[in-house]
Amino acid sequence: MASDQWTSRIGFILAAAGSAIGLGTVWRLPYVAGTEGGGAFFLIFLILLLTLGSTLLLAEFVLGRRTQEGAIRAYKNVASNGNWHWIGILGMVTAFLLLSFYSVVGGWIIAYLVRSFSGQVTSPPGGDYSALFETITANPWEVGIAHLAFMVMTILVVQRGIRKGIEKATVYMMPALFILFAVLVVRSLTLDGAWEGVVFFLQPDLSAVSGQTLLTALGQAFFSLSLGVSVMVTYSSYLGKSENLPRSAWSVVYLTILIAFMAGLVIFPSVFAFDLEPDEGPMLIFTILPAVFGEITFGSIFFTLFMILMLFATLTSAFSLVEIVVAPLIRGKEEQKRVKMTWTVGLLIFVLGIPSNLSFGLLSDWHIFGDIFFNQLDFLVSNILLPIGALLISLFVPWKMSKTDLQEELLRGSNRGNSFFSMWLFTIRYIVPIAIVVVFISMLAG
Ligand code: PHE
Repeated sequence: MASDQWTSRIGFILAAAGSAIGLGTVWRLPYVAGTEGGGAFFLIFLILLLTLGSTLLLAEFVLGRRTQEGAIRAYKNVASNGNWHWIGILGMVTAFLLLSFYSVVGGWIIAYLVRSFSGQVTSPPGGDYSALFETITANPWEVGIAHLAFMVMTILVVQRGIRKGIEKATVYMMPALFILFAVLVVRSLTLDGAWEGVVFFLQPDLSAVSGQTLLTALGQAFFSLSLGVSVMVTYSSYLGKSENLPRSAWSVVYLTILIAFMAGLVIFPSVFAFDLEPDEGPMLIFTILPAVFGEITFGSIFFTLFMILMLFATLTSAFSLVEIVVAPLIRGKEEQKRVKMTWTVGLLIFVLGIPSNLSFGLLSDWHIFGDIFFNQLDFLVSNILLPIGALLISLFVPWKMSKTDLQEELLRGSNRGNSFFSMWLFTIRYIVPIAIVVVFISMLAG
């Protein structure tokens, strides 16, 4: 039984939305949409988020709140025999791997932030923004120290626990993120030539859709909602019994969609206005945003602020990834073990992230199956481990928990009725797992 709890529903929603909204939405979604054809990808992503994503999010909430336990125990509690707790272990491994490359990008943000104080970012020599990204990522010391700094910031918050650490940090960071994003959308849409980008982003060209597009969109939907890792199971285990789960889940989904829209509307108009290519890959926002801010009065100040907010978004997701690994390891001995375990886990993740970090510099020639380490690890996590985790959770929750438990947990404190419950149960039992399997097969079939 968790001893630390969220102080309020808002605290929980912001923390869960904080986990959801992160690099996946502001950095990964735009560049993946950029390489996968834009609007069609975004549309599929939205549909998946609203259907399969929200259903699964609710399933993770139900499991966590019912058992009041984190990644491993939640499964053991429901099914004491069998090996179901391996879903939790898989989630912990996935979180470990995910944060190892995620924190590298967190490091880039810090490196840009530090450089932006001297105005070097928004007006690089010769106006060459790609070269700046290369200079920064090619220097192992600069990105190494920034990467470490990112992990230390994460550790410093998580070691303080749920209420005093994660919740307290998130309730300031998330609202700030929304406000600045709104300012940026306005600026980006008023650029000359912005419309072409809006069209690219919002007009679906369905002829570009392949099995690969579907799988990538599904992986992205899970990634964006932090699903398949038991992060949401862990976070909801700290939630009071009377809170309304469907409403909380919808709030998280809506907030994620809102930010995904805003991120697209900031990035694609700028890409087209500045004649850049939308399929530039992981460095997309790091070359685009400085160019956009370079055009604004006091641009470097805005850029610095924006990087701070990106940092917030990234940190609030990193908190959840460390928490899910730490929680089972300190269970029952929170007071004595939290600090030490958080440092151990956090620093191990940092060390594991070093090859990802160097794959844009020193190790850029080192290819595994034809691509750099960073991209392969991202592929493994987002397109394989997350969908597998999601599949297992979608089998576990509706088939292993009793129907009465599910119904009671889902509807408590909610004004939804039994028909909502039946629809949810049908979707999680049949549609979610079948969709995941079909998408997998369609990818294998090419
Ligand atoms: N949802 C986060 C993002 O979009 C990433 C994440 C995935 C966090 C899985 C936790 C678990 O950036």
